[in-house]
Amino acid sequence: MLDALTRGANATPLAAYIPVDIAREHLLIAARAIADAYPDLDVLPVCADFTAPFDLPPVKKSAGRRVIYFPGSTIGNFGPRAAANLLGGMAAECGPDGGVLIGVDLQKDPHLLHAAYDDSAGVTRDFNLNLLARINRELGGDFRIDHFRHHAFYQPRHGRVEMHLISLADQSVHVGPTRFRFREGESIRTECSYKYTLGGFRDLAGRAGLDVRRVWTDDRRLFSVQYLTPAGQP
Ligand SMILES: C[S@@+](CC[C@H](N)C(=O)[O-])C[C@H]1O[C@@H](n2cnc3c(N)ncnc32)[C@H](O)[C@@H]1O
Repeated sequence: MLDALTRGANATPLAAYIPVDIAREHLLIAARAIADAYPDLDVLPVCADFTAPFDLPPVKKSAGRRVIYFPGSTIGNFGPRAAANLLGGMAAECGPDGGVLIGVDLQKDPHLLHAAYDDSAGVTRDFNLNLLARINRELGGDFRIDHFRHHAFYQPRHGRVEMHLISLADQSVHVGPTRFRFREGESIRTECSYKYTLGGFRDLAGRAGLDVRRVWTDDRRLFSVQYLTPAGQP
């Protein structure tokens, strides 16, 4: 995206690029790499939780419109109400003349979703089980990771993929001083990833005061990138 904005015939002078992420170390490494690759661009990283209000740093060059870029399909990790709140916050933050460029994963054949969230290489399985390793490491847990298995499925009623960790035995686990008992087959729901129709996302954006102005999809309509502006913008 930065290439398209900074190079070539349609280059748009950018006042600054402000990457926001909660993971400080990863954010600072990525921001440094971007600053090195685009020496004329002011890169001003902000370590913050984007679900809560936070301050943006002052920008030296004068800015035209403010565009919030929310790539990937992170919006899908929020339930409908939280997603509408987050989009509403973006509408307020970008201001009446700004916009939101956002990635939105689309509803598709559940077989494709199952293959993505339960891949044969086991990448998503390892990602999911890693939560238990992190609880052990960071919260003083004693999960036996081989006593749980990854399970992911598409739940059509909610239009979402659910990821679970299923207990393979009757067991009890401590996290710090707290004991949790699991029966064999009992599950921990670790993640939801909502998939939208174009109409469904238009309605969600509308509830947050945003109009969908442009939609780009791949040929198979598996994924979309959408440009939204606050309602009423000409
Ligand atoms: C799955 S990654 C997606 C990264 C990127 N959007 C992409 O498409 O490649 C999610 C990113 O969002 C960050 N993140 C998740 N929740 C966050 C929050 N509440 N506030 C700020 N950053 C958050 C994570 O640290 C991670 O870098």
